[in-house]
Formats: sequence, C-alpha cells, structure tokens
Amino acid sequence: MNQLPRIIQGGMGVGVSSVKLARTVSMHGELGVISGTAIALTLARKLQQKNVSQELIDAVLSFPYPDISKRILETYYHEAINQDGKDLYKAVPMPSLEQPEQLTELMVVACYVEVYLAKKGHDGVIGMNLLEKIQLPTLPSLYGAMLAGVDYILMGAGIPIRIPKVLDQLSKNETATLPLKVIGDTSGEVTEMTFSPSAFVKGEPLIPLKRPKFLAIVSSHTLALHLSRSDFGSPDGFVVELPVAGGHNANPRGKVVLNDLGEPVYGPRDEVDFEVIRNIGLPFWLAGGFGSHEDYLRARDLGAAGIQVGTAFAFSDESGMEKTLKERIISAVLKGLGRVKTDPLASPTGFPFKVVEIEDTNALEETYLKRNRICDLGYLREAYRKENGKLGYRCPSEPVEDYVKKGGDIEDTKGRKCLCNGLVSTLGFGQKRRNGDQELPIVTAGDDLKFIARFLKQGEKIYHAIDVLKVILGSSFKPTQT
Ligand SMILES: Cc1cc2nc3c(=O)[nH]c(=O)nc-3n(C[C@H](O)[C@H](O)[C@H](O)COP(=O)(O)O)c2cc1C
Repeated sequence: MNQLPRIIQGGMGVGVSSVKLARTVSMHGELGVISGTAIALTLARKLQQKNVSQELIDAVLSFPYPDISKRILETYYHEAINQDGKDLYKAVPMPSLEQPEQLTELMVVACYVEVYLAKKGHDGVIGMNLLEKIQLPTLPSLYGAMLAGVDYILMGAGIPIRIPKVLDQLSKNETATLPLKVIGDTSGEVTEMTFSPSAFVKGEPLIPLKRPKFLAIVSSHTLALHLSRSDFGSPDGFVVELPVAGGHNANPRGKVVLNDLGEPVYGPRDEVDFEVIRNIGLPFWLAGGFGSHEDYLRARDLGAAGIQVGTAFAFSDESGMEKTLKERIISAVLKGLGRVKTDPLASPTGFPFKVVEIEDTNALEETYLKRNRICDLGYLREAYRKENGKLGYRCPSEPVEDYVKKGGDIEDTKGRKCLCNGLVSTLGFGQKRRNGDQELPIVTAGDDLKFIARFLKQGEKIYHAIDVLKVILGSSFKPTQT
C-alpha cells in the first residue's frame, strides 16, 4: 500500500497496542502499530501463561533462526519451567550494555513475533513504536521487527536523530551503533551500543530486509525542523503530539509552573507553528485529543495527512489492557469519575506522565506508598559511570537507599513510581511477590478519556477498534480488507 494512512493507531506501551489491535486497524486500511516497549519481558510472561496460545508458540517457531527460538521456548514456555509452585514469573535479565546474549535474542524474537502476528493474513501496513529514552533495547528491537517486515518505525520521547541512519544500516544487514547516554561521564569518550546482524546469526545466512519508513514523534516545530535537516538522514514524516495526549508528554518550555492540582501548565511557547511543519514538506499526523470526526477534519485542514489516536483505542476491546480493568475504567468514566492527571513526577524518565486516577491502582499516591520499592525489570534505568570507571545502572524509582548509594540525588526519588511493574500489571501480567504482594496497575490515558462514551452503543460497556475508525472517519470509512 503506497497511500498514506489517515489514522495511525498510536503505539501504547507496555503492550496496550497489542497484536490484535494493530492487526484490526491495519486490516481496515489504516496504520496499526504495536508497542515495542518492554516487549521481551511481556513475551516471556505470555509464554508462562497456562493458556498460552498455539498461535504464539508457532510465531516463535517461525523465527528464521530456529536455534534461537528453541532456546527461548526452553527458557520461558510454561511447560518447560519450574514456576516455583508460587506462580511467580521467572526473572528476565534487566537491559544493560553487557547483557546476556539470551536477552538480546529475546528482544529480537519478541519484536519479530509481534510484527509477524500483526501482519499475518492480510496485506495492510504495521508499525512498531519505541521510546528514544529507553535506549538499550533499541537496536535488537529494530532488527527483530525488520526480520518480520515491519513497514513503519515510530519513535518519540527524546530526540531520535540517528534512527534514519540506523534503519539504513540494519536494512543492509550492516552493523549499527547508537551512543548510550552515561550520566556523569566526564571522560569525553562515547559509550556505544552495537548490533551486528552477522554476529547475531552466527554464520547462518542473513535475510534480505526492507527498510521501514521512519516517523519521528515530536512536540515542537523546532524539533521537526532540526530532525529533517540532520546529517543522519531525515525522518519520512512526523507525528506532532500535543500535551493532552496519553502516555508521556514533553515538558513545558522554560520554567515549569504547576497548577493547583500539581500539573504542569503549558503556554503560548509550547504552541506548534504548523506553517513551519507544513513547509518542511514531509507528511505529518496530529496526535493528542483528536478522537472525533471534527478533530480529524480539523487536522486535515491544518495540512496533516491524518491523525494519531491513542486513548480511544486503548479502551477498545482489542487493546492489550486487562479486560476487567478496562471495564472498571469505562464504568467510572460513564459516572463522571476516572480523572486523568498529568503527573510531573511519576515517571522516572523526568517527562510528565498522564495517569488515570482510579481505585486499586498505583496511580494513586496513597495506594502506591504501600508498595515496597523494588527494581527488577529495569527498562527505565539510566547508565552512570562508577568511581572505578565501570558502568552502573540506577532508576529514581528503585529503593531510595540504593539510588543514593549509586550517587543519585535523593530529591529525584520523590514522587517517582515504578512504571515498569505498573504498566506490565495493566496487561494482567503483574508480578506476585514472595510475601504475597501483588504489583498493581498504573493506567495512562489522554485527556480524551472523558469522551470515550462516544464509541459505545446505547447500554453497552464495550466497544471495538472498528467503532473508533467509523466515528473518526465518518462516511469516508471504507473497510478495505475485512
Ligand atoms: C495507554 C497509552 C500508552 C501510551 N504509550 C505510548 C508509548 O509507549 N509510546 C509513545 O510514543 N506514545 C505512547 N502513547 C501516546 C499515543 O501513542 C498517542 O500519541 C496519543 O495517545 C494520542 O493522543 P490521545 O491519547 O489523545 O489519542 C500512549 C498513549 C496511551 C493512551
């Protein structure tokens, strides 16, 4: 399909942009996107479910390098492992520069599997979303998605300036590198993350790969302009995301001012100049509060190819969010509850993060304070240089004394939440601790959450991805591949 999508179903981590959601949207002629965030971990946990589907096992087995898929099934498939009699999920190593080879394999295979399944049985287009800020899994994730023929890569939450070059290299099966940000590194030396396709396949034949298109997710025209002029190559287009969008948001420009509810206030300096974006000459999509037909038309009037929508899809039946949690939130919204807060502190990344304030979730401060701080997934850890010259990793949500011992500032730990465990729990795969504690979900959504009733039929509490497409596209909705 050469035509540009009118709707991009936004990448929603962890796992909310499921295979089923992306496949449904893609089959109806728009761009379905899977989330690549922490996907190695979720594959490992899915394989440990007692009711794991044969389709998933078959997808792992379809990976072109069978020794690798065999190792993964041997390690994580529930029939192969001893679950300790306590239903604890088996630990997956945390990402690091010198991570075990098997974790790199799991990252590659997990992205391959989701793209493979999302593309299966139709010829619609599929994208994968990654966050620039989560650096260590990037190269293996891109390679895995490309092995399954991913059509688009979308990346924001940072400045993904080198991605065009990396995609050029990986699509030719060449070694690709990215610099790792190392806090407190004064040596001036660049610490590189490297992925070599030929080293990965250990002498097996390399597979010819297609270069996916790259859409950079930006929140300002300045960044879009900067990326389009980069020596590393230009993105193929932009998703321009406004601060009402679900997930992480950009920080306001200048000094951060909080409103009475403790949320960052955005002002005129944060406004996007669409004239600048249009003049770049690349296609763009608008995101953040564009969940209606009128919003779609407004975006088109501004020169956009279409819109990227998250929140409306996040609560549809096809999303990866655990079913009863989704129903609880929809019921709360129908009663006028379930407020969305832009929390300036919750995310260890330092970006504001939107949370749905709903009972029995870790979005609520009083509930979260009862949680024992523990860091065992590690996707949001940042690298720092230890006194002995070696690399260490720390996260402001880990136990405070550990963070401080590693040279972190105690101030940075205040109000921080473990998004890794919270977001994985949102899928229904939360870890149970040995003392019986259960990791609770943290749900994110955009300000549009209050409008999701527009997708529900009278008296119903469930809606489908196709309802979202129909409402947004109106009479121009023509299912192309059902
Ligand atoms: C549950 C949820 C999780 C999200 N996770 C991500 C993510 O992992 N990466 C990303 O680039 N954007 C993420 N987003 C943002 C969406 O991709 C999309 O840009 C945004 O939701 C659009 O605004 P809307 O929520 O008003 O529709 C997330 C949004 C939601 C609702």
